[in-house]
Amino acid sequence: MILPSFALVPAEQVQEALKIETAAYPPDEAGTQETFAYRQSVAPSLFLGVYDQSDNKEKKLIGFICSTLSKSESLAHESMTTHEPEGKTICIHSVCVDPEHQRQKIGSALLKEYIRQWTDGPYDGISLIAHEELIKFYVAAGFKLIGKSEVVHGSKPWFELRYSLHSRIPDTVTQRRILEVLREQSNQSELPRPGKKLASYFQGGASELSDEQGLNKLRLYCPRIPCRSVILLEKSATLGKRSSIMIDNPHNLPPLDLLPHLPTPPEPISAWKIGPPANPMIFENIGFSKTLPVDGPRDDPPGGSRLVKLLTCAECDLGPLGWVEEGSGGTTYWLVINRVGYM
Ligand SMILES: CC(C)(COP(=O)(O)OP(=O)(O)OC[C@H]1O[C@@H](n2cnc3c(N)ncnc32)[C@H](O)[C@@H]1OP(=O)(O)O)[C@@H](O)C(=O)NCCC(=O)NCCS
Ligand SMILES: [Zn+2]
Repeated sequence: MILPSFALVPAEQVQEALKIETAAYPPDEAGTQETFAYRQSVAPSLFLGVYDQSDNKEKKLIGFICSTLSKSESLAHESMTTHEPEGKTICIHSVCVDPEHQRQKIGSALLKEYIRQWTDGPYDGISLIAHEELIKFYVAAGFKLIGKSEVVHGSKPWFELRYSLHSRIPDTVTQRRILEVLREQSNQSELPRPGKKLASYFQGGASELSDEQGLNKLRLYCPRIPCRSVILLEKSATLGKRSSIMIDNPHNLPPLDLLPHLPTPPEPISAWKIGPPANPMIFENIGFSKTLPVDGPRDDPPGGSRLVKLLTCAECDLGPLGWVEEGSGGTTYWLVINRVGYM
């Protein structure tokens, strides 16, 4: 059983990556010593490896994605060979899994992690070319098929695919969001206006966020700036301190710049509490996961690990922002204080 973990491939491991490339691609398509060393030296942050960490063995590289930047969205031969540092398109040259470990969803997990790392970052999109049989592999990861590519490289035809790193939101724009944007635009000249901030940026800490009764003074939002879906209106939840629980999947951590790490249980955390009993109608927008087992002491009734549902942004799927617990008094919702935005 493979336990994949992800890390950038350092210069010392370029040789190992090349070995995997040579084993996985036909000889007329594989990169060379020079192209690999070049890509790693000019764009090290775009060279992501997937490692096997099972059996506590030494971490072993079993696959990678390597790319350079291009100023053009569409892939021509030029963008396949030169790194353009001002480019806004991540141009993937290779997605590769060691033949021994193929068809175990490692390539899919690696691609997903790559996309996650660059979503809402500085680049506009990810482009690549692939043979016909792999189109479905990329489409399943969210890429759109652009069409047949003009690139000739090796003997088989290539198809161009693109993933847009910013366009996730407009697909799911709601009437509410449109009204919000219009309201925001008409408010723009009114100063001062509190910006959307994460709790951790509030100088006064949690006390600035809650009133005398402990209720949330501000509206709760999705912390992803381009999304900003409203989660909960003012005065709907009470600030509570409780022990942390492990809601993150350690093999697929959420974007930690948006969703800070939770401390190891039973370290305390601050979270907004709704209920028990609580009704899902209290939320403006929220997504629920299926029921999962998680580690960490129970609050009610006290005990060990428990089953919870995770709470995510209904608009952009960012999460977990919190979780749902079933206790003796009914359902309780918890939203981690620094995993939501405020306005
Ligand atoms: C392409 C590659 C990265 C996929 O990695 P992987 O870990 O084997 O892929 P996954 O297990 O995540 O595949 C998920 C799904 O994608 C599709 N898929 C993956 N590889 C495929 C292949 N070679 N042919 C057809 N479909 C494929 C299948 O639908 C697969 O699901 P299934 O196994 O249940 O049928 C890997 O096969 C590889 O390194 N190939 C050689 C290098 C290469 O051609 N890279 C792509 C350059 S564009
Ligand atoms: Zn969101």
